[in-house]
Amino acid sequence: MKIGIIGTGNIAQFLLEEISKVENRDVAIVSVFGRNQEVGKELAANFGVTFFDDFGAFLDSPIDLVVEAATVEVVKQMASEVINAGKHLVVSSVGAFADSEFYRELQLLVDQKGKDIFIPSGAIGGIDIIKSANALGGLHEVSITTRKSPASLGMNVDEETIVFEGSATEAIQLFPKNINVAIVLSLAGIGEEKTRVAIIADPKATKNTHTIKAVGDFGQFELVVENEPMKRNPKTSALAALSILSILKNMGSRVKVGS
Ligand SMILES: NC(=O)c1ccc[n+]([C@@H]2O[C@H](COP(=O)([O-])OP(=O)(O)OC[C@H]3O[C@@H](n4cnc5c(N)ncnc54)[C@H](O)[C@@H]3O)[C@@H](O)[C@H]2O)c1
Repeated sequence: MKIGIIGTGNIAQFLLEEISKVENRDVAIVSVFGRNQEVGKELAANFGVTFFDDFGAFLDSPIDLVVEAATVEVVKQMASEVINAGKHLVVSSVGAFADSEFYRELQLLVDQKGKDIFIPSGAIGGIDIIKSANALGGLHEVSITTRKSPASLGMNVDEETIVFEGSATEAIQLFPKNINVAIVLSLAGIGEEKTRVAIIADPKATKNTHTIKAVGDFGQFELVVENEPMKRNPKTSALAALSILSILKNMGSRVKVGS
């Protein structure tokens, strides 16, 4: 499997470093597309990849799968071009799927083209339970409570403050940059309207913490994920980058565990 990455930032560099250490060279990053020529040339020299600043040329390079590690806007602009070019796609900026019409159109396109879209679990977990619990439609309630420092929410408060309580649909409109995780949860489970979201600004918080709860015919679960920030970009949790790496490392594996 030959991989191309969109972006030259934190997640892109993490994947380049880690995939280059994988002994099984059935999975290799060969192409990188980005806007930053200087960083692109450095990555090309360090990891033996080809850097492109022309998107068409990037798609024409010998890649089977594209990993988006850029922005929501990039997903909206480039996802259908990637699929139309006959490549599979891994989406990091899942916030793009808050636009349900865009999501539906992309689903139709991948069905037509016979290509796959991978949506990593990102900075949360429990997606396996949510999917299993809903296999017969018996999932009734799903909620996520996110606790972050005021600074990472772009606010200034002195004491713990509930900033938002409502549906994932409303959360996406009000906090588009902080809500990737609510979208993954909604897509896997009972949808944006029914998935409940709470966001707490906590001056004592040093990590981004997500508490996920679900109730259904299966029983119930509660999962707390305390995320370590990444050094290169503290806004991105280490688990988010690891969830993409895990998809790439397991690509082509004939035994699927927990999926
Ligand atoms: N699913 C999750 O839980 C989760 C968690 C963290 C981050 N993310 C997503 O992953 C994305 C990448 O994270 P990161 O830590 O690597 O961010 P980053 O800011 O370090 O890197 C983003 C890269 O995208 C590039 N870029 C922006 N616009 C571009 C364009 N039009 N064409 C080409 N390149 C472009 C930038 O130059 C930069 O290299 C974030 O923007 C976020 O949407 C998802």
